[in-house]
Amino acid sequence: MIEAKKALFTIFGATGDLAKRKLYPSLFRLYKKGELGENFAVIGTARRPWTDDFYREVVRDTIADLQDSDAQAEKFASHFFYQSHDVQDAEHYVTLKQLGDRLTKEFHTECNQIFYLAMAPQFFGTIVKHLKTEHILTGKGFERLIIEKPFGSDYASAAKLNKEIGQSFPEEDIFRIDHYLGKEMIQNVAAVRFANHIFESIWNNKYIDNVQITFAEFIGVEDRGGYYETSGALKDMVQNHILQVLSLLAMEPPTHFTENEIRAEKVKALNAVRKYTEQEALENFVPGQYVAGDFDGEHYVGYREEPNVAPDSKIETYAAGKFMIDNFRWAGVPFYVRTGKRLTEKGTRINIVFKQTPIDMFSSGTDNTLPPNILTIYIQPTEGFSLSLNGKEAGQGFDIEPIKLEYRHDAEFLGNSPEAYEKLLLDALNGERTNFSHWDEVARSWELIDVIRNAWDKNIKDIPTYPARTMGPTEANVLLERDGREWVWDPSYWYIERGKLKL
Ligand code: BG6
Repeated sequence: MIEAKKALFTIFGATGDLAKRKLYPSLFRLYKKGELGENFAVIGTARRPWTDDFYREVVRDTIADLQDSDAQAEKFASHFFYQSHDVQDAEHYVTLKQLGDRLTKEFHTECNQIFYLAMAPQFFGTIVKHLKTEHILTGKGFERLIIEKPFGSDYASAAKLNKEIGQSFPEEDIFRIDHYLGKEMIQNVAAVRFANHIFESIWNNKYIDNVQITFAEFIGVEDRGGYYETSGALKDMVQNHILQVLSLLAMEPPTHFTENEIRAEKVKALNAVRKYTEQEALENFVPGQYVAGDFDGEHYVGYREEPNVAPDSKIETYAAGKFMIDNFRWAGVPFYVRTGKRLTEKGTRINIVFKQTPIDMFSSGTDNTLPPNILTIYIQPTEGFSLSLNGKEAGQGFDIEPIKLEYRHDAEFLGNSPEAYEKLLLDALNGERTNFSHWDEVARSWELIDVIRNAWDKNIKDIPTYPARTMGPTEANVLLERDGREWVWDPSYWYIERGKLKL
């Protein structure tokens, strides 16, 4: 029997894209499942002068595909209230408090409050300060802060922000969103490792040759050019999502599967990631930017032609690199990572490439030509795992043929994966922080990323380019070739063979 949670949500940035695309539908799903009942209310704030009625219309639009009936959607929307709000004006927080107090009584929320910061990060500090000084925080129920990325734009700004919010909320009430941690298969990484002895027992540098983490997107920057120009792929994806995934893959098994122990192990893993010197950063990380390209009869413009992007922009829409982890488990095993916009297709996956057998007894030469065993964890768009092995081809002779054990399904099609935001909102309501980033993780990630960013800013005059809808600049292939390796996954060949892509 689900016990419905009681809380007042205050969303800063209620008219924005994230609120509409993710938050309202996720709250509605929780409502449909009974995780939220009648004892919840939402105050949406932003600068625009909307009325409650208009706000409820907007909310209803966002859940149109999910509702069972109009009456149900209407009832849900009746929990939503709008307050036009200037985050820098102290007076406005007084009005906000009055509304909050009224709704707390009306909806019997037991003084529990969740504050959701889904707006321009430069205001995070101001908002949080006012929540305290204007006594919106009462200390009566639980009071939790959910904060969207980016958490700072480098180590110094992240530390400053952390200090500011730390004056109003203790670390255990701060929920820093990394929406990848809400994804089903990311959470499954721990299951793959710790529930399968055959994997965990060989999860080390004795048996693993290299690890490849790919976060590929085929979309361009769309209408986010303004933000992206200040961020780039390194800060947008590597600092947070990719390093989080890397830490889950690399951490030691926690003694118990609890929040504190998992976090402690993740932090230890991140601390063991080698912090490069400027020169090492240049050698081990490659930026890239997409230029115009044609794919399957469509023409795609280059990044510099996108809206709100400088015509001479040097910002990377692609980043690839090699992390090394200096501990007993991982010494000598490269973790290659890459992410980019306008790549061949959307695909988030992890390839664990195992070492080859000590000798290849099936080949006449001295080289080991056996394909390596690879465990692939598919995050999206399909979810699942596959394991590539070698077997004997049927018939006379002794030819080795690769075979694949596969367990894959289309997450959306089967509908068994709750949307990441739904999971994360429920975690926050339950006070469960395992799937959020702790300050120690954020701090270490920025330390690692700052070096790379600064090295690029100082030294790279001409950013390497790649045609839209291909898998990145050739420099990213050279990065692995130099080590005698290659990227396991390159979907371009499939399209080239079918005449959809020319390189
Ligand atoms: C966000 C980035 O954090 O993740 C976006 O800011 C990116 O640039 C997005 O497109 C990818 O998330 P998903 O869930 O669509 O893979």
